[in-house]
Amino acid sequence: MTVPALSVDQQQALLQVARAARLMAYAPYSKFQVGAAVLDDQGRIHAGCNVENAAYPEGVCAEGGALSAMVLAGSTRVRAVLVAGTGGAWTTPCGGCRQKLREFCAPDTPILIANEDAMGPRYTLAQLLPDSFGPDHLHAP
Ligand code: THU
Repeated sequence: MTVPALSVDQQQALLQVARAARLMAYAPYSKFQVGAAVLDDQGRIHAGCNVENAAYPEGVCAEGGALSAMVLAGSTRVRAVLVAGTGGAWTTPCGGCRQKLREFCAPDTPILIANEDAMGPRYTLAQLLPDSFGPDHLHAP
């Protein structure tokens, strides 16, 4: 089955949702706000923001929050992701988030990067996490 291309309208909607989520980030320690938006296979968009914790390792990333919202809404397939970070060094997903995305993305799922005022580079999941381990290794759906 071919994956439909991401339309300009969908990209704009992802950007708007991720940027709005970024502004809701709870990041009093790093002061580094991140928002994420995922488009699911039903055309719905789910948002997440980073939520830090005084016990630093307990903080969670924006991408994980958006994926949790998607699963809660009843979908386990991602069609596109947009991560809106802070500042000039583009916020690409951290290693742990790449693996979390791997669970629900196809190798060619687009992962778009932005910041407060511009669109940045665009990747596929396979570019960010080549030769990855996933559900198929465990014969899961
Ligand atoms: N962060 C994310 O939310 N997503 C990423 O992919 C990179 C890092 C957050 C975690 C932490 O709250 C802050 O950015 C600084 O690392």
